[in-house]
Amino acid sequence: MAATLIIGSQWGDEGKGKIIDFLSAKADYIVRYQGGNNAGHTVINNYGTFPLHLVPSGIFSKATACISNGTVLDLEVLAEEIAMLEKAGIKLNGRLLISPRCHIIMPYHKLLDKLYEQAKGAGKTGTTGRGIGPVYADKVSYQGIRLYDLMNKKQFSDKLKVQLRIKNPILKVFGENPLTQKNVEKMIFKAYSKIKSFIVEPYPVLSKAAKNNKHILFEAAQAVFLDNDWGTYPYVTASSITTGGINAGCGIPVQNITDVIGVVKAYTTRVGEGPFPTELLDKEGAYLQKKGAEFGATTGRPRRCGWFDAELVRFACELNGFTSIAITKLDVLDTMKQIKICTGYTYRGKPVRYYDGDAEFLKKIKPVYKILPGWQQSTKGITQFEKLPQKAQNYIKELEKLIGVKAIYISTGPKREEIIAR
Ligand code: GDP
Ligand code: IMO
Ligand code: MG
Repeated sequence: MAATLIIGSQWGDEGKGKIIDFLSAKADYIVRYQGGNNAGHTVINNYGTFPLHLVPSGIFSKATACISNGTVLDLEVLAEEIAMLEKAGIKLNGRLLISPRCHIIMPYHKLLDKLYEQAKGAGKTGTTGRGIGPVYADKVSYQGIRLYDLMNKKQFSDKLKVQLRIKNPILKVFGENPLTQKNVEKMIFKAYSKIKSFIVEPYPVLSKAAKNNKHILFEAAQAVFLDNDWGTYPYVTASSITTGGINAGCGIPVQNITDVIGVVKAYTTRVGEGPFPTELLDKEGAYLQKKGAEFGATTGRPRRCGWFDAELVRFACELNGFTSIAITKLDVLDTMKQIKICTGYTYRGKPVRYYDGDAEFLKKIKPVYKILPGWQQSTKGITQFEKLPQKAQNYIKELEKLIGVKAIYISTGPKREEIIAR
């Protein structure tokens, strides 16, 4: 296991933070390579409960944590997260490396995120409001401001001046007050002073580690169906999440990746807008939301809930070359009488695949269900596969069969030790 990618296989919040925290004991490096503080990765271990937005979830181990160039940074959030971890007794000096190539989320990005959503009205994406779309848009259109720019005050000021010249008229059109150079500089430099000692390009360190066969864990944020290209566009996020995003997002060639573990919730959830073929709008959906505590770790928004969608995960597996999966939140299904699995889709009576159409098409397809009996017994905290009720074992085997890879981890509770490792 030289380099392993841990990636969400649905619409996020699969429990990536928990799996990374569990696996980090054996890792030398943990790398965030995309996304920003739209992510909320919950870790529950001996140190406490942490919703991590930017710092990799493996920070509680001996591993070195890297925030690589593909990640976008809200400096205030990052500074707060660092302070929270240091207060909890986690030593970060020398083991948190932040790339100077990271783009900075500026106050105007957050405002524009809000204004674009308002302008789209009913067709909104339902973003986290963290400025993610606008900061990545500036990155690809050469308007971005990076940590590198902050290292030279004049360079930063000059770039900010240009950006305010472009952004303020837009803000004005939408009825927002213009931003002043002085206020933005003051706010950014205050946060920068708290994080600047961690700025070190992780690439040479990771490159050497890969050559020396050190164990690197890549921590994807968001999930395959929020990927900008392969997700349910425009109900997606702005970054490249899939396996290929690693090379762009941290510089390590994809050939180094020996294992790709898809993290899969035992049912499906989604925050924000967009198609969701197996969504449950009835009391079963409400039950999953309550039992699974399905409220966003970043925004607190309720997550929409539905049955397991094997077509989604099967495609995620094909797209990313999963070598195995980690199934989480099995315990949430404990009291269900019957459990449905969507085995595939049809459109006008004919079988179709996820990739046969766009988000509008996905709203029209019909899920085909297989019904399995529930186990109606507690699986909470079970650590051996053989100790699971037979019907829960059958459910796992059915998912493995439909997806085509083995579930090497099965999570039976939010805590680090509540897991079956096969
Ligand atoms: P992430 O974004 O993929 O890291 O997932 P989140 O942290 O946003 O959401 C997953 C939620 O489920 C968190 O509240 C976790 O503490 C919790 N969780 C993770 N694994 C399990 C599990 O096996 N059982 C239960 N009941 N909760 C879990
Ligand atoms: P983790 O890493 C769930 C969703 C938002 C919205 C869409 C675009 O915790 O799994 P954005 O703010 O990125 O422009 O919003 O993506 N979204 C997530 N949903 N988990 C996440 O991260 C998410 N990050 C973004 O709800 O639908
Ligand atoms: Mg989350």
